[in-house]
Amino acid sequence: MTWRAKADLLVVGTGVAGLSAALRARELGLRVLVVSKEEVSAGNTSWAQGGVAAVRPEEKDPGDSVEEHVRDTLEAGAGLCSPTAVNSVLGDGASAIRRLRACGARFDTTSGGRLARTREGGHSAFRVIHAGGDATGAEIQRALGTTASAEGLPVLERHCVVELLHTENGAVGGALVLDHAGRPGVLRAPAVLLATGGLGQLYRATTNPEVATGDGIALALRAGAEVADLEFVQFHPTVLHVPGENEGRRPLVTEAVRGEGAVLVDAHGERVMRDEHPAGDLAPRDVVAAAIERRMAETGTESVYLDATRALGSALPERFPTVYAACRAAGIDPVVEPIPVTTAAHYSCGGVVSSVDGRTGVAGLYVAGEVARTGLHGANRLASNSLLEGAVLGVRAAESTRHDLARVHQGRARPTPERLPAAPVVDRGVLRRIMSGHAGIERDGAGLDEARAALEAASVVRPLRTRENAEDAALTLTAHALLVAASHRTESRGCHRRRDHPDTDDLHWRRANPLRLDASGW
Ligand code: SIN
Repeated sequence: MTWRAKADLLVVGTGVAGLSAALRARELGLRVLVVSKEEVSAGNTSWAQGGVAAVRPEEKDPGDSVEEHVRDTLEAGAGLCSPTAVNSVLGDGASAIRRLRACGARFDTTSGGRLARTREGGHSAFRVIHAGGDATGAEIQRALGTTASAEGLPVLERHCVVELLHTENGAVGGALVLDHAGRPGVLRAPAVLLATGGLGQLYRATTNPEVATGDGIALALRAGAEVADLEFVQFHPTVLHVPGENEGRRPLVTEAVRGEGAVLVDAHGERVMRDEHPAGDLAPRDVVAAAIERRMAETGTESVYLDATRALGSALPERFPTVYAACRAAGIDPVVEPIPVTTAAHYSCGGVVSSVDGRTGVAGLYVAGEVARTGLHGANRLASNSLLEGAVLGVRAAESTRHDLARVHQGRARPTPERLPAAPVVDRGVLRRIMSGHAGIERDGAGLDEARAALEAASVVRPLRTRENAEDAALTLTAHALLVAASHRTESRGCHRRRDHPDTDDLHWRRANPLRLDASGW
């Protein structure tokens, strides 16, 4: 190991969860060190469009309440949310918004000076707060990033965590890290917080940037933590369809466009959602994504269309500048013509099992944001609950580490291994084809078995000496865990749809204890 560093808290990831945690930990007097695989703003937060779902009691939101928000979240989660987690996280919405504003985030306001609100699928009220029209995540990232630099928060950019280290008591006590030049080093810290985001890069088409490679799930599994609900991968119903360019990160067309009246039509101009759900175009996202997939199969097309010409028309460029720019770059004018859209992997509802305070089952290991499975999302996340969860959990996880470090002695660090670990790795292109082919919006048992066998056959063990190998190993382990979880759940629920088990089976599957997976056997 060629370099060493020490901190009280090591934060891995610099989106809304990681930076909220690091800033709060600094306020609490902890020595914090933050690492990011790329530059600070490279993660999913920057790309989030629609907004932050939060009810602010002090504004006396007309026609809305935290209770309504809880009800919508439970409904979208299709029976698998933890009501305690939902009440706990959503109840902190107002303080999360206050904290983000205190960091300088500028949310859009009405002419009367109140926060402007929009609506998205599954929400019974206009409660989604936004910034820059449809650039909410970018504004939050800017505000937190600016505050972090102004406060001199130490951030190691282009540093990739390869493995978590343990103490002699079995607690997590640091990490092996490759620096920007690929030199291995050791970061010792009695508390490690994973805020590494999601796993969209498991699939050929995703809304997620390149860095979303399931790192936190793999690191936590290898460190002895449990994961759950990984079968619930949410596919966004509307990303821009550009013929011949449908791999990698795809531009999102925020659900808020439908929230403001745009409608989905097929190649013949027929409404896609007419007979699908009482909420029509604003049905929960799993319902809309599945309806789009079906309609594309029926019409033999690669897209359906989002028609915003009547609902928004000339108001679209100002209200949705990010969507407008992406359409114009693809040669489409959404003011006068429908936008071709298709589905893409978007969000992992499952993750590392944690409390609503970010604690995992492994001492010294904490999680926050998309990588965490707190029970907020159940089988299907309600739109715009994720920025909120990242902001709330980041702060709480920092507070948990402060509390635990003052009370729990984690033990002495074990000697640093002399070599970097090795792990099974599947070529990324092969892995994506397997996952998109067999573990997409609709799956079945035979396809999932085939996918597991294909992954095994394509695996080679490689030392985690480069970021690429570390990412590929993370994708491979995460894919295995997801396939096991999806095979195990022999029913359809939320964003897990089984062709061979099309019904929801409450008798067997609606239970408090999900399948919890650890890394044994892989
Ligand atoms: C969107 O703006 O449609 C995405 C919001 C989300 O995924 O929560």
